[in-house]
Amino acid sequence: MNPPRTDARRRHDPDARGFASDNYAGVHPEVLAALALANGGHQVAYGEDAYTENLQQVIRSHFGPTAEAFPVFNGTGANVVALQAVTDRWGAVICAESAHINVDEGGAPERVGGIKLLTVATPDGKLTPELIDRQAYGWEDEHRAMPQVVSIAQATELGTVYTPDEMRALCEHAHAHGMKVHVDGSRLANAAATLDVPMRTFTNAAGVDLLSLGATKNGALFGEAVVVLNQDAVSHMRHLRKLSMQLASKMRFVSVQLEALLARDLWLRNARHANEMAQRLAEGVRAVHGVEILHPVQANAVFARLPHAVTERLQKRFRFYFWDETAGDVRWMCAFDTTEDDVDTFVAALKEEMAR
Ligand SMILES: Cc1ncc(COP(=O)(O)O)c(C=O)c1O
Repeated sequence: MNPPRTDARRRHDPDARGFASDNYAGVHPEVLAALALANGGHQVAYGEDAYTENLQQVIRSHFGPTAEAFPVFNGTGANVVALQAVTDRWGAVICAESAHINVDEGGAPERVGGIKLLTVATPDGKLTPELIDRQAYGWEDEHRAMPQVVSIAQATELGTVYTPDEMRALCEHAHAHGMKVHVDGSRLANAAATLDVPMRTFTNAAGVDLLSLGATKNGALFGEAVVVLNQDAVSHMRHLRKLSMQLASKMRFVSVQLEALLARDLWLRNARHANEMAQRLAEGVRAVHGVEILHPVQANAVFARLPHAVTERLQKRFRFYFWDETAGDVRWMCAFDTTEDDVDTFVAALKEEMAR
């Protein structure tokens, strides 16, 4: 059969890349090929398809025999569904002040999930048992939302990574207080690449109860999954997905993307590459006099502080965002398709603008 004709025309430059977000990247060709493979014919809708069934095995190969995946459309949806599954109506979630669920989800955990967030300021995006204790109290106090869950991100929004020991200590502490642990793993692959250990080492083996497993930033078109690791910790996952508008009817196309990333090593290749580009960027930036790198570069993000005028001139040449405009902090993200040349060209431009 000849390929279908289309009237669509390319409306962008496929070689233009910036450092604004790993979501600016397109889809990894192997994921696109998997999507085409899953096309054609009829498959049962809402998750009873062959791809979703196979995904369960793939997920168990990473996270052990009790793991179960619930594919969803996006990361915010994964977080909102996951957190509802581990909280009562009177429950609250302890998280870092900088957490995506607190800062960048439009209030969805509160408005859609009905969940109170109890936030803690952190120096580097990471919670510790001591920091958790700033909010872990008052379980018997009817005037206070009850802390029932600790939610952390791995990697964090500030590009830092918890070690397996740090994760274990957090989980032990949370569990000792009767709280469950959720991981926002929008960039779990990047954390695994940095730590150079299997994902289960710092999730199941550390005591994590459930996680939002990212795929979009790792090379998917769209789609993530809530992965339940401890079945006793959750309730009503099936119903929560539909209620939260996260139940894909043509689920095979979400599942096949996760499968394409996770069945072999595409997830790791993509994450390693993005991390390596961030290291290259950080190294280049460190050599530019007057630019300060703000946090340890442990995943695919580089945070820096530079003069406003320089940022504004540089933003005319490359896309990236202020993280804290008042302080002059910016964030540069690398993706699976960032090239060495992209990084070197950007560093050269930064040098040029700093020297002007
Ligand atoms: C740490 C983290 N969690 C969750 C999300 C949410 O992803 P989405 O934009 O797909 O809702 C993001 C996206 O930027 C993120 O960085």
